[in-house]
Amino acid sequence: MSHPLHHLLFFFLLLPFSTVAQTNGMVDFGSSITASVNASTPWLSPSQDFAFGFKRLEDNNLFLLSIWYYKIPDQTIVWYANKGIPVSTGSKVEITADKGLVLTDPRGQELWNSNPDLNQVAYGFMNDTGNFMLVGGGSVDVWQSFKDPTDTLLPTQIMEYGGVLFSRQTQKNFSRGRFQLRLLYDGNLVLNTRDLDTNFAYDAYYWSNTYDADNVTNRGYQVIFNETGYMYVLTGSNQRKVLAPGIVLPSGDYYHRATLDFDGVFTQYYHPKTENGNWTVFWSEPDNICVGIVGKEGRGACGYNSICTINDNKRPDCSCPLGFSLLDQSDKYGDCKPNFTQSCEDYDKSSSGDLYDLSVLIDTDWPMSDYEQLEHMSEERCRNSCLQDCFCAVAILRNYTCWKKKLPLSNGRNDSAVNGKAFMKFRKSNPPPQPTDPCFSPPDIKKNDRTLILVGSVLLSISLFVNVVLTGAFCLVFFLIYQKKILKNRDGPSAAETNLRCFTYEELAEAADGFKDELGRGSFGIVYEGVLQMGNSRNSVAVKKLDWLVQVKDREKEFRTEVNVIGQTHHKNLVRLVGFCNEGEHRMLVYEFMSNGMLASFLFGEMKPSWNQRSKIALGIARGLLYLHEECSIQIIHCDIKPQNILLDDYYNARISDFGLAKLLMINQSQTNTGIRGTRGYVAPEWFRSKPVTAKVDVYSFGVLLLEIITCRKHLGELETGQEDRAILTDWVYECFLKDRLDALVEDDSEALNDSRNVQRFLMVGIWCIQEDPSQRPTMRKVTQMLEGVVEVAVPPSPSQFSFLS
Ligand SMILES: *[C@@H]1O[C@H](CO)[C@@H](O)[C@H](O)[C@H]1NC(C)=O
Ligand SMILES: *[C@@H]1O[C@H](CO)[C@@H](O)[C@H](O)[C@H]1NC(C)=O
Ligand SMILES: *[C@@H]1O[C@H](CO)[C@@H](O)[C@H](O)[C@H]1NC(C)=O
Ligand SMILES: *[C@@H]1O[C@H](CO)[C@@H](O)[C@H](O)[C@H]1NC(C)=O
Ligand SMILES: *[C@@H]1O[C@H](CO)[C@@H](O)[C@H](O)[C@H]1NC(C)=O
Ligand SMILES: *[C@@H]1O[C@H](CO)[C@@H](O)[C@H](O)[C@H]1NC(C)=O
Ligand SMILES: *[C@@H]1O[C@H](CO)[C@@H](O)[C@H](O)[C@H]1NC(C)=O
Ligand SMILES: *[C@@H]1O[C@H](CO)[C@@H](O)[C@H](O)[C@H]1NC(C)=O
Ligand SMILES: *[C@@H]1O[C@H](CO)[C@@H](O)[C@H](O)[C@H]1NC(C)=O
Repeated sequence: MSHPLHHLLFFFLLLPFSTVAQTNGMVDFGSSITASVNASTPWLSPSQDFAFGFKRLEDNNLFLLSIWYYKIPDQTIVWYANKGIPVSTGSKVEITADKGLVLTDPRGQELWNSNPDLNQVAYGFMNDTGNFMLVGGGSVDVWQSFKDPTDTLLPTQIMEYGGVLFSRQTQKNFSRGRFQLRLLYDGNLVLNTRDLDTNFAYDAYYWSNTYDADNVTNRGYQVIFNETGYMYVLTGSNQRKVLAPGIVLPSGDYYHRATLDFDGVFTQYYHPKTENGNWTVFWSEPDNICVGIVGKEGRGACGYNSICTINDNKRPDCSCPLGFSLLDQSDKYGDCKPNFTQSCEDYDKSSSGDLYDLSVLIDTDWPMSDYEQLEHMSEERCRNSCLQDCFCAVAILRNYTCWKKKLPLSNGRNDSAVNGKAFMKFRKSNPPPQPTDPCFSPPDIKKNDRTLILVGSVLLSISLFVNVVLTGAFCLVFFLIYQKKILKNRDGPSAAETNLRCFTYEELAEAADGFKDELGRGSFGIVYEGVLQMGNSRNSVAVKKLDWLVQVKDREKEFRTEVNVIGQTHHKNLVRLVGFCNEGEHRMLVYEFMSNGMLASFLFGEMKPSWNQRSKIALGIARGLLYLHEECSIQIIHCDIKPQNILLDDYYNARISDFGLAKLLMINQSQTNTGIRGTRGYVAPEWFRSKPVTAKVDVYSFGVLLLEIITCRKHLGELETGQEDRAILTDWVYECFLKDRLDALVEDDSEALNDSRNVQRFLMVGIWCIQEDPSQRPTMRKVTQMLEGVVEVAVPPSPSQFSFLS
């Protein structure tokens, strides 16, 4: 607390000076300047080389309390108060006796003060050196702008150890930026980046090498910018480590300054004192900031994900790679943000190529962002490895080593020393055509306008013989595929991938080994076994070549519809379509591999599967059908439910397969003129009569299948064995049901016998499903509920009570 008398004393002492304050550089205490467009007359140095006051910024309503070159057109700012934060019109700076310079906002709130040493301030003085000084009683300096530097050092200025320069944020934003010049206590003058929040200093990218570990006296302790424009570090033993050799222009004719520029380059400039001329670079450090910053933390010279290229003036140019853009449009030296998010949640290795692409950058690297190093890699393998990896943002290939890198990328540089290529992932603007997903779009379609989609795989042939042949070929195909237990695709069926991978013919030709290993042939095309490289794993797939489609008019449209409708279904009881090929004449479908083959082989094989397993499978099929019938916005009717078309995955989950291998039809529900589809024995009777075809045809087929699952007998299988009474499974089952002969149905299956209540329920559901009158059959929802035991099952009537056949 200062005594009021002191103020008064100083006031009288200084009174004579006040009239000449503007001409000799002296400013009385009590003087002030108010920031305003008109009246901000600065305090000038005697020579008028420098001015102190409010410098109007480009944004006309903002002012920076600063010191600048007054005489040259480019009124370069060399010092600023308030950590570079500008103030608004009406703000005021005043010299007070106790706090020195005090900056207040228009309401009088103090924003900053120069906090002088414990001494009363008598007056201020704008020195011709560019140093604004506060002088106390007895001509003692109590504060100097030179001792509180910002981003610039001027001749005669000395930085003691512990001293710091901060770069600006940007050329025009004077807030403290990311770069620092510090004279460390160990004697080194260093440049480093820092963390903006806590000011934590990251690794240095320039050292003056004025550190001596063994001899304290040899350490640097001052950075001196002398009158003639030399800058050196002075050591305790009076050694001068000159930072830049070479001639220096006479200080009488030239202004000199050394500024830690906003881009992190510490630069000494000179400028002729005549008003014309430019600031010319005399020297700068470091030589190449793009490659100079190597610390693990921090951004590097440019922002995150940015690429730094050093230009001819040794300044960094920053640019965002393809697919990235500036986070702050006004700061091109700042961070770049990707225009997509790459989430592992829905990242499908197999279809990543449809969504993402790689741009190639020559001699570009982000050396601090590695997470994988792969040796002996070709360009192709390096590219694919990144493309199929949901973590990978970019891969760098140098001398057959492939480094995978993750976001955010730091220390990006474009430099010939990199001597490698970068493959940078970006998301394509036009992902492959994604029609409305039938299963995830809002179910606002009314029942009446539901599009009926008929899906079948094998046309019911007129003669039984052809049918048997077809079915046989079909079974053979799957038998061959699924007997081969190679690597399995363990992708969970519930994975919500919505994007099919579009394969090229070449890719599938390679996957299927040139289509040499033909596994089988049917009316629908040829099936090949294939192995696809997906990321680091090799996955077995079934590749179906739909050659027959070539003859279909409008096949393009139909193929697309099929792929889109079936490909976008997601249910754990459906086989997943991995992708397709639609190239020229080629139409192919790629399915995930089902390791446990067909339900037909499982059910009718040597070993009778357990009742528990069978009931689980039946329920799975019912749920899959329910999904197709009711849980998609358009109804999908499979039309060919039979044990050959149910596959079993690794965990013996039932997976309905074989969608759209044959013609896909879209008709109105009212239309009836559809050729018979399905397989004899499983085909609902209405197919034979001009009756509307509805989802109930699948219910019928499911009923037959359910009875087969209960009994482990083929519906039409016993024709050859001579067991006439059991030849038509459905008739025999109903007979047994009427006679209450469950034991005959399941034979010596003790597990089933012990669970007779459930077996009975399943049986009744099966009989309900095979009712001749479609309206009598329950919906798949009802079926599922009955199988689950959620609703009671009534005693079913005879399947053929209405005697439609006559
Ligand atoms: C600044 O000067 C202009 C004319 O030179 C005048 O119109 C304006 O009112 C002045 N503004 C202030 C705040 O004095
Ligand atoms: C101005 O600065 C020079 C160099 O540091 C110094 O010699 C001189 O005394 C200063 N002038 C005043 C009035 O303090
Ligand atoms: C300068 O940058 C800082 C930090 O980004 C920001 O908060 C401030 O508003 C900027 N100042 C101006 C005048 O744009
Ligand atoms: C340190 O260095 C100075 C000057 O080089 C030398 O005079 C002095 O003897 C040295 N001291 C030690 C302890 O080596
Ligand atoms: C400035 O430093 C340089 C290098 O040490 C020296 O040659 C020159 O004489 C110095 N100038 C002044 C005015 O001290
Ligand atoms: C400043 O430098 C540029 C290019 O170096 C030059 O074109 C321009 O004429 C110079 N300006 C002055 C005032 O000398
Ligand atoms: C992302 O940027 C790339 C490159 O500029 C562009 O091709 C692509 O369309 C953009 N993607 C999105 C989703 O905007
Ligand atoms: C590439 O790597 C091999 C093995 O590490 C090394 O012998 C060779 O010198 C390297 N070549 C280049 C150009 O770096
Ligand atoms: C890398 O530098 C070269 C030469 O300066 C330039 O042509 C190229 O565009 C730069 N690449 C990137 C990605 O900045």
